[in-house]
Amino acid sequence: MTNKEELAAKRERYLLPAYAHYFKDYLFLTRGEGQYVFDEEGGKYLDCFAGVAVVNCGHSHPRIAQRVAQQMGQMVHTSSLMLTEPMVLLAEQIAQRAPGRLQQSFFCNSGAEAVEGATALVKACTDNHQFIALRSSFHGRTLMALSLTAQRSWRGKGPYAPGVIFAPNPYCYRCAFKLSYPSCGIACATDIEEAIRTSTNGQIAGFIAEPVQGNGGVVVPPPEYFPIVAEIIHRYGGLFIDDDVQAGFGRTGKWFGIQHFAVNPDVMTLGKGIANGLPLGAFIATPEVAPVLLQGQHFSTFGGNPVTCTAALATIETIEEEKLVENAARVGDRFRSELERLAERHPSIGEVRGLGLMIGVELVKDRGTREPYSQGLIQLAELCRANGLLVGKSGLFGNVCRITPPLCFCDEDVALACRILDEALTEIEKSS
Ligand SMILES: Cc1ncc(COP(=O)(O)O)c(C=O)c1O
Repeated sequence: MTNKEELAAKRERYLLPAYAHYFKDYLFLTRGEGQYVFDEEGGKYLDCFAGVAVVNCGHSHPRIAQRVAQQMGQMVHTSSLMLTEPMVLLAEQIAQRAPGRLQQSFFCNSGAEAVEGATALVKACTDNHQFIALRSSFHGRTLMALSLTAQRSWRGKGPYAPGVIFAPNPYCYRCAFKLSYPSCGIACATDIEEAIRTSTNGQIAGFIAEPVQGNGGVVVPPPEYFPIVAEIIHRYGGLFIDDDVQAGFGRTGKWFGIQHFAVNPDVMTLGKGIANGLPLGAFIATPEVAPVLLQGQHFSTFGGNPVTCTAALATIETIEEEKLVENAARVGDRFRSELERLAERHPSIGEVRGLGLMIGVELVKDRGTREPYSQGLIQLAELCRANGLLVGKSGLFGNVCRITPPLCFCDEDVALACRILDEALTEIEKSS
């Protein structure tokens, strides 16, 4: 194995500097097993990151590894221009679990590509190109996906696709209207009608949102939010795209994040956890919307590949057999209540929020002013790493500790993670 210094030097020489690295000193990971990853020296880390909320069944799951290896030996690729079994069976499995009447899928290679396809479908269906998206959203790094993303640090110089209007996100901790739930009357939802009336020609293509904003800081909308918004969107001729790329496949304690809300999307995008780490994305639409893209109007060379689709089928079986959706709900509740107990002792915790095992801990310098504590999160992640715990970073201000472990996480893992977080918080509060 190449030693770490040599590998780091090669990385700097041969990879674009555009690649960010999470830590000051490189973390060189060589192996994963269940909820653990290991570095080149055998150092063990409890993984609350899961490769950006991807490895839902745990690292190197034997069933998925075995099924993928078997499919690799049988046939790796032929394209969706031929009939292959894994792609069709996967579409059936997803349709059986998807909310409402979502039924017909298209497979691609990433979340961003799924968003591109979903928006193309919605534009074709409505003959309109105007979208409402949310502040702090993240939908990917391709042109349309980035045009729908409201995170300045990632937007670069543009230009972007025309016709995107950003509405305030349902972020109760930092309400754009300075109101409080529930007396706010869900102003962030009703304001969308105002946005349509004032900033569009009165007809829209659609609305796109994550059920829980992941990169935006694990922002969970109030229960009334999506039903109100969907009603408005439909009244103005638009369709509702649920971007379930990060929240999907059991992460939030339901199969799909949007199932926490009394609403049915017209289109849903999927990625990340769908194949437990193999590159696969998808979008699924209702039978009314799906046929608008005619045969040959959309295509992806690798999309629907037998290997990635086999991995996704094995992922679904694993989630079901190991009851990972239920586990995410139960262990997630416990994790959040333990973190709330930490918040009683740590003034740098402004808020703990989330659904299932998609959890955010927002750090603030001062609970009164809620000033974001971004430096604190950088320190926290470093200290956790030094003590064998990996956590994520998110939020518009980079101050939300994102906790998205594999869904096989257990009570002992929660206890260990909280102990390490407790010590790290004590340390950063001492130095602040
Ligand atoms: C909600 C959401 N949509 C889309 C994407 C883009 O996915 P990908 O990085 O696979 O293109 C992400 C990635 O973080 C995401 O969280």
